[in-house]
Amino acid sequence: MDLELNDRVVIVTGGASGIGAATATLLIEEGARVAVFDLHTTTVSESDRLIGVPCDVRDESSVSAAIDAVVARWGRIDSVVSCAGISTLFGRSVESVTTVEWDEMMQVNVRGQWLPIKHALPHLRQQASAAIVIVASDSAMVAAPGDVVYCTSKGAALTFARALSVDLQVDGIRVNCVCPSIVDTPQSRRAMDKAEGFADADYPVNDPLDIARALALLISPVTRSVNGQAILADWGYTAMSSYPA
Ligand SMILES: NC(=O)c1ccc[n+]([C@@H]2O[C@H](COP(=O)([O-])OP(=O)(O)OC[C@H]3O[C@@H](n4cnc5c(N)ncnc54)[C@H](O)[C@@H]3O)[C@@H](O)[C@H]2O)c1
Repeated sequence: MDLELNDRVVIVTGGASGIGAATATLLIEEGARVAVFDLHTTTVSESDRLIGVPCDVRDESSVSAAIDAVVARWGRIDSVVSCAGISTLFGRSVESVTTVEWDEMMQVNVRGQWLPIKHALPHLRQQASAAIVIVASDSAMVAAPGDVVYCTSKGAALTFARALSVDLQVDGIRVNCVCPSIVDTPQSRRAMDKAEGFADADYPVNDPLDIARALALLISPVTRSVNGQAILADWGYTAMSSYPA
């Protein structure tokens, strides 16, 4: 299937690692041009279709300058894949979390979803079939113990996506959300103390490419009637009844 992404300009926040990096690679293979917004862009192998733009998604002037850099380079923005996020407080009791830590999580995982979209919107509005996809988490709907702050931030990201889809319908801009369960990335290895990876896990684990494929599909015009949705990539776990049928 042709995803019709040829030459489209896509911003991938958090695209220097994990899910974002897999998404950037897949989008390039599909013919798109990709601007990676990340704190660290030294790992981004730049080409005529891929640029790394140093950017802190928490910081409005940094985001604004990054958007200007993309428009200066390619003259348009068709899509935003909003992937940058942190999960630094996994395993912490809620009373041990400081206000500084709480605010940092919300600044990256919530404000950091909003600012790149806010500044991309004037450019998205100029394109037919513009689409946004936000990476939340299954933690927006179910909680592992010791993860209250992350779950709260991902619940906000999911609701942000749905509410934004309502506001942007008038502009013909779609907004969807992907909610993965565990994905084998540097972030999850750090958070779950799995330096060697998840080969010994007794639960299913996504590959970053599994999520990249869902993200690419949702910004593709082929899913033009899919809007305001949160797609769970969790192997069906949250659909299961607690009743032992
Ligand atoms: N890995 C999982 O199990 C999993 C599951 C569900 C959801 N997610 C979500 O997927 C997204 C990607 O996670 P990942 O596992 O690929 O993590 P990762 O750590 O491998 O990649 C995240 C990227 O975001 C960047 N980033 C962090 N703070 C930033 C900031 N302030 N400004 C710009 N860039 C910033 C990092 O530099 C990094 O390159 C996150 O939103 C995460 O919460 C991950």
